[in-house]
Amino acid sequence: MNTTMIRRAFVLLLATACLWMGSNVLADGDLPTKFLDRDSVGKTRHNLTQRQTGGGGPTGASMDQFRNDYEEVCVYCHTPHGANRTVTAPLWNRTMRNNTYQTYDLLGTASRTQPVTQPGINSLTCLSCHDGTTAVDSIINMPGAGRFNQNQETIENTDFLNNAWNNRRGPDATVHTRLAPGECLACHATGAGIIGAGATDFTAFVIGTDLRNDHPVGIRYPEAGAGTDFKDPQRKEARLAYFDNNGNGRADTNEIRLYNAGGGDGYEVECASCHDPHGVPSGGAGSPFNPTFLRVSNVGSAVCQSCHTK
Ligand code: HEC
Ligand code: HEC
Ligand code: HEC
Ligand code: HEC
Ligand code: HEC
Repeated sequence: MNTTMIRRAFVLLLATACLWMGSNVLADGDLPTKFLDRDSVGKTRHNLTQRQTGGGGPTGASMDQFRNDYEEVCVYCHTPHGANRTVTAPLWNRTMRNNTYQTYDLLGTASRTQPVTQPGINSLTCLSCHDGTTAVDSIINMPGAGRFNQNQETIENTDFLNNAWNNRRGPDATVHTRLAPGECLACHATGAGIIGAGATDFTAFVIGTDLRNDHPVGIRYPEAGAGTDFKDPQRKEARLAYFDNNGNGRADTNEIRLYNAGGGDGYEVECASCHDPHGVPSGGAGSPFNPTFLRVSNVGSAVCQSCHTK
């Protein structure tokens, strides 16, 4: 058995144990999220403590066997000190693999005109969870020195990448599962595995390493403006171009953007062009977030029409 098989066997075993204990969490049918999805990332699905900040929401403890509950929202992605120095993402706290992705251009559509590279860092951050190759709790710098059995790590550590670290904290995970079939999806997929339904369905969130069926990322933004079917982002800075809809000269969270990661590729579309992982208010302060972490609501295909004149 390789480590993946062992981990899957563990998940299934634990899942079976839950079933056997007659836990009420295993009722059938998909469930809507219990997060309020407004005000703060702590009230969204990106709160991987799985306890909504400020109370209410899911209970979280039922997930303790499958991911460490670090009791802090930001730490699954960021750390104030000892962050990952190998990538240009803000105070990034996640271990990062060197995966090769199947990019959209391999599909070979006749209409594509722009060059595609491997996803840039503003996609790799998302893919560090969403490609399903790394445990969602695989971070470099765990909070509360010693409490989680690892003190600060400032270098890439293969134990982390292999999900082979243990936890001193008691009931929390000794297996660290990924957003992948047979792992988080052992329960979070309708009709999957031995559990079937009973937990919110995450199938659509598993992007994987095959990006041929996803809107291209790592793709250059073409010459835009009058006479083309692409809109021209009003503001162009060294690393970022954005549709400055309110004209305040800042890339606001609700403005679609393009990233220039250097390397002569120019401005490119990445995951964070369309999504903000912290949630974006649909109206004024306190309004519900746009669904699926989108920078603008896609009602009337407004996301698409930010760039495409169609
Ligand atoms: C699920 C992962 C995730 C969580 C949780 C998260 N962030 Fe982020 N954050 C990101 C990513 C990814 C970026 C980079 C976005 C981009 O590519 O432009 C980012 C960028 C930022 C930035 C700089 C750019 C910006 O959007 O302002 C700040 C500041 C920030 N995060 C603060 C926080 C704080 C504070 C928390 C906790 C309350 C938090 N984040 C929780 C993923 C996360
Ligand atoms: C720390 C791991 C992690 C990172 C990093 C991360 N995500 Fe997620 N994301 C998840 C998990 C886990 C879920 C689904 C489970 C849940 O409900 O928490 C999710 C759910 C989502 C959803 C579905 C939300 C909904 O309400 O339907 C979207 C969209 C999403 N993520 C986009 C992104 C994007 C874009 C980025 C990068 C800017 C990103 N994620 C970074 C772990 C992560
Ligand atoms: C043994 C089954 C099982 C496994 C494995 C599992 N979960 Fe869960 N999870 C549940 C059940 C049952 C619930 C409670 C019902 C619900 O809210 O979906 C739940 C709830 C959640 C919620 C709250 C859902 C919401 O939005 O209200 C999140 C987020 C979550 N799990 C994330 C994960 C992640 C991430 C993983 C993998 C690291 C994972 N779970 C692994 C069974 C499981
Ligand atoms: C060009 C804009 C755009 C880009 C780039 C983009 N997304 Fe999305 N994404 C969307 C839209 C729009 C939706 C909502 C689709 C819907 O509601 O049916 C969405 C939905 C999602 C969902 C929820 C599942 C689903 O299918 O509805 C996840 C998870 C997600 N995106 C992750 C990512 C990740 C990871 C990347 C980078 C690899 C990415 N997105 C790049 C526009 C984009
Ligand atoms: C951030 C800018 C941006 C946004 C937002 C955006 N696109 Fe694109 N889209 C692009 C770029 C750049 C290309 C590549 C054009 C090319 O190669 O000629 C592209 C290509 C495409 C293509 C053609 C792919 C091919 O094989 O020729 C389709 C279809 C498409 N986008 C649909 C959408 C839809 C649907 C949405 C909304 C969910 C959307 N786009 C949002 C920038 C964007």
